[in-house]
Amino acid sequence: MQKIQSKIEYLLFENIDELDTNARSLMNEAIKAREKAYAPYSNFNVGAAILLDNNEIVLGNNQENAAFPSGLCAERVAIYNAGANYPECTILAIAISASSSKHKVTNPVGPCGACRQSIAEYEHKQKQAIEIYFMGEEGKVVKVNALKDLLPFGFDSSFL
Ligand code: THU
Repeated sequence: MQKIQSKIEYLLFENIDELDTNARSLMNEAIKAREKAYAPYSNFNVGAAILLDNNEIVLGNNQENAAFPSGLCAERVAIYNAGANYPECTILAIAISASSSKHKVTNPVGPCGACRQSIAEYEHKQKQAIEIYFMGEEGKVVKVNALKDLLPFGFDSSFL
């Protein structure tokens, strides 16, 4: 038996102003998308903005449904939007911001497990890591350089 430790690496920024210009403008797009989320049941709005290698920005926000499981997270709305409309492009980065009408979200909100799996699929498809930035409504921003830092021991098509 071996005991193995693995490390993840992330950058923690004090706030959005500490990001470089490109990352800040991508996060600002995520914030604008967040404000248009359709989240009447949770009142928890999430926005995602994806930067492609052709410089296009593709947006998504959470879309809820009275039949709860039929709704979809912002990250998957955004990444499927990118996959559907720009299948030949490489996804360089995704920025995510979340807010609630019930309380101020000041901690960074990472993508849920299902969204991590969906992002992993596109990393695998394009054979290139995707930078992920995430924050709440205000305050600290986390950056990881690749999805694997959020999903160790991930599953992909190489196992099939
Ligand atoms: N949500 C997202 O959009 N992304 C996540 O990664 C976590 C959760 C949405 C789903 C639902 O509409 C609301 O936030 C509350 O869970």
